[in-house]
Amino acid sequence: MDEQISPAARVNGAITLPGDKSISHRYGMIAAIAEGVTTIHNYSGGADCQSTLACMEAMGAGIERRDGTTIVTGVGLEGLKRPAATLDAGNSGSTIRMLSGILAGQKFDTVIAGDESLARRPMARIMKPLAEMGASISAREGQYPPLRIEGRTLGPIDYSLPVASAQVKSCVLLAGLFAEGETTVREPMRTRDHTEIALGEFGAEVAVRNRVITLKGRPRLEGREVRVPGDLSSAAFFLVAALLIPDSNITIRGVGLNPTRSALLDFLVGMGAPVQVPVLEQVSGELIGDVVARYAPVRGGVLEGEITAALIDEILVLAVLGAKSEQGLTVRDASELRVKETDRIATLAENFKRMGVAIEVSQDGFHVPGKQRFRAAELDSFGDHRVAMAFSVAALAADGPCLIRDAGAASVSFPEFYSKLQHVTT
Ligand code: S3P
Repeated sequence: MDEQISPAARVNGAITLPGDKSISHRYGMIAAIAEGVTTIHNYSGGADCQSTLACMEAMGAGIERRDGTTIVTGVGLEGLKRPAATLDAGNSGSTIRMLSGILAGQKFDTVIAGDESLARRPMARIMKPLAEMGASISAREGQYPPLRIEGRTLGPIDYSLPVASAQVKSCVLLAGLFAEGETTVREPMRTRDHTEIALGEFGAEVAVRNRVITLKGRPRLEGREVRVPGDLSSAAFFLVAALLIPDSNITIRGVGLNPTRSALLDFLVGMGAPVQVPVLEQVSGELIGDVVARYAPVRGGVLEGEITAALIDEILVLAVLGAKSEQGLTVRDASELRVKETDRIATLAENFKRMGVAIEVSQDGFHVPGKQRFRAAELDSFGDHRVAMAFSVAALAADGPCLIRDAGAASVSFPEFYSKLQHVTT
């Protein structure tokens, strides 16, 4: 599906967003191996999170969808069954990386695969710690999907993550559920902690001290009622849209504001953006609040080190804002962008080039000068949901209508993106 986006005069209104992708994956997996029924409100309707549910269903969990609510009937820690066919993770790195932790501890063998983009994403980062726990996994060319996982009895480990990755941390913790004894993961820097929170909510013993997480294996997980906050990474597109178009004012209700995710808001405020959080509460261990942003010219800035890691999913749309800011945006330490759904440094540079926007790229980042004009152009998602959405936002500030090729890729995380965008733009 292609989408034509016309320049916007204003971005205005109040919206709610679909459930956070990261939290949805975790609830879907943990609910399936818990005992009894879990009711999940606002589970993400994005294709990625539906891939997770389909995998759990293929191994015997009950999945029922009733107007905005997903009901998962868990089978307990020992209850998963051998799936009849290869598990399909679709486009979802989170599904394959985190679920592999669960699969490694089963009494049966599985094969898990995905689409063309997923088949190019590196899996050695999870294969290494899982092998240390006793797992047996083989991969195409030693590191790419499909993964062939022979279920084994796992032992606990004490693992220091070489690279900050919440997916890898979660994979090890989920595998640790099946290991007798204590599994410890040490992070080089803090990453999103939804797995730790969710496991605690479902009844596991998880202790977190600084950047060291310890989980007691073989817990009794119990089904419960949970609510997924709106996705802050999806909110980023609307916040930036409001900061690009003069006279805009947007309210996003019920967004997840977990401190390991909210670096985006701090960075925007640091750039001089009037972003506020007037309402804040805690639900199922996660912070949720309303976020309000109104237009103001922003200064620009530098993203590097820990901040780059904390903002990795928002960098594309921040680059769009950077190109309109006063001083531009410099991004360093972002080589992970090269192994996302696309090589996001390359796809960003290609779309900017088509719009006549200057960008200098390096192996692990880029610099976009500020105060640039966006020329109307034919753009491409290259099959990457965040590229589709970031450049749809850029198109709102272009000097004429832009065509986004394969804009349908947005449905990987946010199927309602274009209808919500239309709702708030005039
Ligand atoms: C995610 C972790 C991040 C992020 C991805 C979702 C998660 O990936 O980019 O979109 O839900 O744990 P890495 O673990 O590769 O940093």
